[in-house]
Amino acid sequence: MTKFTLNGEMREVDADPDMPLLWLLRDELKMTGTKFGCGVASCGACTVHIDGYATRSCQTFVGDLEGAEITTIEAVASPEAQAIQAAWVELQVPQCGYCQSGQIMSASALLAETPKPTDEDIDAAMEGNLCRCATYARIRRAIHRAAEMLEA
Ligand code: FES
Ligand code: FES
Repeated sequence: MTKFTLNGEMREVDADPDMPLLWLLRDELKMTGTKFGCGVASCGACTVHIDGYATRSCQTFVGDLEGAEITTIEAVASPEAQAIQAAWVELQVPQCGYCQSGQIMSASALLAETPKPTDEDIDAAMEGNLCRCATYARIRRAIHRAAEMLEA
């Protein structure tokens, strides 16, 4: 048994310790907001927050989750995440949308740590989140916009 907090609720799961968290979320718990892209920590589509840090769930294993606090796109609602989501809507960031759960999770973790990021901070924090639709310029603008909203 592994015990952790998921989106504010205590969970106890009886799953193979070698199962990736992404599989647990999508296949066992039917939470499909977190996306599968590459499976090898190279695309960022599967990003969740673990103890507040943007983390690739495809390469995080159930056996390492004891006591962890996990937040997924279904429930991320910190002030930073709310500003990010508002800016995403205002600037119409998504195109196909597939990568955007991961983008939002990485961007909100960035703002929690760096409230006024520079372009370089944004590029460094977001470089592991790929977007086949190349929405990168809008993502960068929206992160700046969310930072402004939080400052106001
Ligand atoms: S699916 Fe996890 S980084 Fe690509
Ligand atoms: S919006 Fe289509 S992959 Fe990013």
